[in-house]
Amino acid sequence: MQIEGSTAFVTGGASGLGEATARLLAERGARVTLFDLPDSRGAEVTRAIGAAARFAPGDVRDETQVSAALADCAAVQGAIRALINCAGIGTAHRTVDKEGTPFPLDTFRRTIEVNLIGTFNVIRLAAARMIGNPPDAEGERGVVVNTASIAAFDGMIGQAAYAASKGGVVGMTLPIARDLAQHGIRVCAIAPGPFRTPLLEGLAAPALEALAASIPFPPRLGRPAEFAALACQILENAMLNAAVIRLDGALRMGPR
Ligand SMILES: NC(=O)c1ccc[n+]([C@@H]2O[C@H](COP(=O)([O-])OP(=O)(O)OC[C@H]3O[C@@H](n4cnc5c(N)ncnc54)[C@H](O)[C@@H]3O)[C@@H](O)[C@H]2O)c1
Repeated sequence: MQIEGSTAFVTGGASGLGEATARLLAERGARVTLFDLPDSRGAEVTRAIGAAARFAPGDVRDETQVSAALADCAAVQGAIRALINCAGIGTAHRTVDKEGTPFPLDTFRRTIEVNLIGTFNVIRLAAARMIGNPPDAEGERGVVVNTASIAAFDGMIGQAAYAASKGGVVGMTLPIARDLAQHGIRVCAIAPGPFRTPLLEGLAAPALEALAASIPFPPRLGRPAEFAALACQILENAMLNAAVIRLDGALRMGPR
């Protein structure tokens, strides 16, 4: 698809990887809706991007809120051709911790609900709109970019819930791409290694440095702009479909 002049819906667009992607899409001439929680930095980021951006407050788990935001986006900015799913949370707990406490089930459930079910909720509702788009010269009606994580493949100690949620995103990318192929909609996922965003703020500086040093090359945290660049390439490259692309400097995480 052509980014310039198109409309994109970016979940988690108020921070980190989603914010960087929304900024790059707007720079490249797209109109962008940033869908994020009401208490996020959505309004501030939207103002900073300028007239091409709108903030739609809502929760990816909520069918009514997502439907209304997609309808508003299409009405104000035009038919949605790109969906970038970046909304997500990180949680950490051992299956049984050192005090013998089992993983809190509500935390496990919330992680799956936001990262996996929330992502699917937005995909299904956005795709239902995309199938009505007129096809472009390639026959394409839309593109979906999901955000998994390398934790989907090498989850560390404490990452049972997070890895399960991201493993779900990896696992559903191919069947959704197959479901939507007949409509000319492509679906890919990016599996990032550690990127410098507010999500990693919980980690102490020495832990972040150690994490960065463990990356074979380049030995540093990823930059959100590097994620945004790959998301744009996925939108533009019609042969990329059902791919799950690691963006991790060759990092294969160990147990801790
Ligand atoms: N930063 C990393 O190292 C890294 C690595 C691998 C994968 N990821 C994934 O990338 C995605 C973006 O992460 P980030 O690092 O930019 O984090 P971030 O915390 O900076 O941004 C995530 C955004 O998602 C929003 N969000 C959370 N729950 C939501 C909900 N229920 N509904 C709507 N919005 C919600 C937050 O308000 C926030 O603005 C996440 O899915 C994360 O799991 C990040």
